[in-house]
Amino acid sequence: MHKDIKEIYFTAEEIDKKVTELAELMNEHYKDEEVLMVGILKGSLPFFIDLSRKVSFPVTFDFMCVSSYGVSAQSSGKLIISKDLSVSIENKNVLIVEDILDSGNTLYNLYNNLLTRNPKSIKLCCFMDKPSRRERDVKVDFSGFTIPDEFVVGYGLDYAEKYRQLPYVGVLKREIYENN
Ligand code: IMP
Ligand code: MG
Repeated sequence: MHKDIKEIYFTAEEIDKKVTELAELMNEHYKDEEVLMVGILKGSLPFFIDLSRKVSFPVTFDFMCVSSYGVSAQSSGKLIISKDLSVSIENKNVLIVEDILDSGNTLYNLYNNLLTRNPKSIKLCCFMDKPSRRERDVKVDFSGFTIPDEFVVGYGLDYAEKYRQLPYVGVLKREIYENN
């Protein structure tokens, strides 16, 4: 275990099992339809890649970098698009792949933005969900783990851009926050 991690929330094995379950639900839903998977950078990357390798319908990839967060753990509630899609989504099945749903501000604003581009469908998939933190009504179509209001890192999730590479999800030691 990494020296800054206090406790492991989900092991690599538990994550793999959950990703398989989500992929199976998606396979049932999409069948042979073509889907544009839209990964939200950077946090969704490990999840996006693992998920894409487990689905059986035809997919294409694109990525967006959006946030409603700065480097601090404060949500501004405003959507900032620092990298937009490189393809049109008109008449396509769009599957948004996100790491974690917290206040819901990012995905609420992103969903409404993408809706104006006339996709055939938009579905939302989140690896983790903190429902107790919700400020906006966001409907998640494929939800992985529900967690309490605790700041987690690993499997794509960061604290000050670190810990994304960890193969598990864990909680940081208190002194890591306090020293910053
Ligand atoms: P929302 O707009 O409040 O739903 O913010 C979602 C974004 O906040 C996620 O995509 C993450 O980048 C970040 N975030 C929220 N909770 C955590 C956490 O526990 N660890 C790391 N990042 C988080
Ligand atoms: Mg993020």
